[in-house]
Amino acid sequence: MKIIQTIAEMRQEIKYLRKMDKTIGFVPTMGYLHAGHQELMQRAQKECDITIVSIFVNPLQFGPNEDFAKYPRNSERDIQICKETGVDILFMPEASELTANTLSYVEVSELDQHLCGKSRPGHFRGVCTIVAKLFYIITPDKAFFGQKDIQQLQIIRKMVTDLNFDIEIIGVETVRTDDGLALSSRNSYLSVEERKQALIVPATLKEAYAGIKNNLPRTEIIDRLTQKVQSIDRCNVDYLEIVDATKLQPTDNYQQDLIIATAIFVGKTRLIDNLLVN
Ligand code: PAJ
Repeated sequence: MKIIQTIAEMRQEIKYLRKMDKTIGFVPTMGYLHAGHQELMQRAQKECDITIVSIFVNPLQFGPNEDFAKYPRNSERDIQICKETGVDILFMPEASELTANTLSYVEVSELDQHLCGKSRPGHFRGVCTIVAKLFYIITPDKAFFGQKDIQQLQIIRKMVTDLNFDIEIIGVETVRTDDGLALSSRNSYLSVEERKQALIVPATLKEAYAGIKNNLPRTEIIDRLTQKVQSIDRCNVDYLEIVDATKLQPTDNYQQDLIIATAIFVGKTRLIDNLLVN
């Protein structure tokens, strides 16, 4: 596995791969890798000749009071995981080269009005800016994103369409532990007690799903489940919403593809998860 740290070297490598007629699959990450990330890498390997993974904790997508400084990092372990998973190239750029002094941003409007876009202003602008920059540098044929971050996935899809990137975006199903918790780098913040409490996240989605199948009104589902979560010690609902799957707007029309999405604080840790309803 090659480890590349500069944009210039990455560009040179891409030129070479293009000359060799190789197709490129790209998995952008912020590191602290787990089986969810590995699933994306394996999909890339299956579908493309060369798999490139990037690890970059992107300062542009963290708000001033968020966890940028303490976001978990472990380069040694990440490098090992990438090697073991059969990644061909690992791109680990420095912030000094990639994001310092940026005055240019990419923003997808409307799709960021609700869910995480509402509670984390500027977050998706930061995500789109970094992903667009990585797309320009790596020029992949396909890029792989998790459904775990469903709003991110839909926003990236729209960005790629709107800005005419010649890249196919592949959404990959959420990888969970046996007890149902979605894997996340942020799960490492949870204490043993909080890890047990965290199961309220998938449980809430399941109950909302049942509510939809029983045709209960949207606000009734949300209010009842919000109260239920709030009644648990140190658990707080950031949002719980039912939106249509394309425009990501709250909706009571259950005759279309829907997403039930939630962000719940378990102690100080904010966990997100979602369920698709067809
Ligand atoms: P990060 O949180 O590291 O996630 C990298 C990719 O892994 C994303 O596409 C995310 O949806 C996917 N992923 C995370 N947990 C998953 C799980 N349990 N199952 C399946 N896929 C999972 O998302 C980001 O980084 C950043 O915003 C990034 C796109 C890299 C831009 O900075």
